[in-house]
Amino acid sequence: MKNKKEFYWGASTSAFQVEGGFGQGGKGIATTDVRIVPEGIADNRVASDHFTHWKEDIKLMADLGLNLYRFSFNWTRIMGDGKTINQSGIDFYNNIINECLKYEITPFPTLYHFEMPQHLVDIYGGWKSRKCIDDFENYARVCFEAFGDRVKMWGTINEQMIAVAAKDLNGNHNASDNQGMKDMYQMSYHMSLAEKKAIKLFRTLVPDGRIGPVCSMQVVYAETSSSDDVQAAKDAQDFLQNCFLDMSVYGRYPKAYTHYLEKKGWLPDTEVVDKDLLTKYSPDLIGVNYYCSTCIRARKTTDNVSNLPPFYRNELFMLGNNQYLEKTKWMEFGIDPKGLYTGMREVYERYHLPMIVTENGLAYSDVLEDKQINDDYRIDYLKKHIEQCEKFVKTGYPLLGYSTWSFLDLVSSHQGFGKRYGLVYVNRTDTDIKDCARIPKKSYYWYQEKIKNSNI
Ligand code: BG6
Repeated sequence: MKNKKEFYWGASTSAFQVEGGFGQGGKGIATTDVRIVPEGIADNRVASDHFTHWKEDIKLMADLGLNLYRFSFNWTRIMGDGKTINQSGIDFYNNIINECLKYEITPFPTLYHFEMPQHLVDIYGGWKSRKCIDDFENYARVCFEAFGDRVKMWGTINEQMIAVAAKDLNGNHNASDNQGMKDMYQMSYHMSLAEKKAIKLFRTLVPDGRIGPVCSMQVVYAETSSSDDVQAAKDAQDFLQNCFLDMSVYGRYPKAYTHYLEKKGWLPDTEVVDKDLLTKYSPDLIGVNYYCSTCIRARKTTDNVSNLPPFYRNELFMLGNNQYLEKTKWMEFGIDPKGLYTGMREVYERYHLPMIVTENGLAYSDVLEDKQINDDYRIDYLKKHIEQCEKFVKTGYPLLGYSTWSFLDLVSSHQGFGKRYGLVYVNRTDTDIKDCARIPKKSYYWYQEKIKNSNI
């Protein structure tokens, strides 16, 4: 299935961001279907209307020369209430998988990319409850049994940090600040257990397949060389990345992280039997999502952290400013291609597993002019990041492939359709659904040439 040079060249999407098809084909309600979006921002009900355009989309992928499509299953399309099989949802994904295979594109689905069955949130609080582990295991079983004969590359959970921190994604809206923090760490622990149950099942149901987590790779720089800032950067690395990947690969948390949670009363409740599950089943690969690096400094008592995402709400570290990077409206941390190489190198040296870049791309408010998008800014971003992947491979590290975010314009996780990442333009705006016509951008044709002439 790979191209002759054995490298996967892909493009990525996620179900709730592209599919639409709200309430169609037996789909149940997900948290992302009912979240309140600010006035003037697109919701996920139509998204990029991939639900009706999927055949045309996959043909565009084939014409581009992709040999990998990274997408996700929407739990509520496969099991409307999170528990009961919806055959029409399985048929929908079978069509996608078979169409990919027709063009020799390797399907690479992720089981859980942010949305959550609302029913499970209503009946037991979603990931706050251990019951969710069993329901996830059951969902994973259904997926492996339905698709595992043809699908051999799988992602478990996409960006666990965001999945447990974003209340509108996981549905845990009600917690007070301190309780909210405790819940977040508890949900994360349950998710790790669920991931392990899925991997355990996978070994029996898809013995010839490969599976692994997809992390939001953190390349953390200290703002200055002061030992306080350097220490803060190490703490941030633990809180933003190592706590998830250490669990996925080794079944344990970093020591300093555990110590801090204990002090705050945020340590998750565990059961004795968990240890066996956590330590016995490891992934085969790690998917890395990378957009930019992060700059960190030591926290000052005067810093206000209340507006920061929950993983930054602690006394250890604070977001800093990297004066060396070019920043844009949507890439406010700065554009840092070399960070991709640095980050993957660190991930490899800590986990010794093959990696695949599962997301990397540039957000821009593209405007259609003369029925064209001349997105040279995106080409520049992709080119520089792909060069770092090439360097990584040539250094001898095991990189399985590169999959850009995103194949086509889609609803951003929190900022609607004004923020676009696609190689293919989707003709709609936040407030006007228009015809959702597909128009390949200049970057689509650039990527096509890149794949054709690749020497990795
Ligand atoms: C990753 C997610 O966090 O980044 C995607 O896996 C997301 O789902 C992407 O869309 C870009 O982030 P955003 O917030 O700009 O959509």
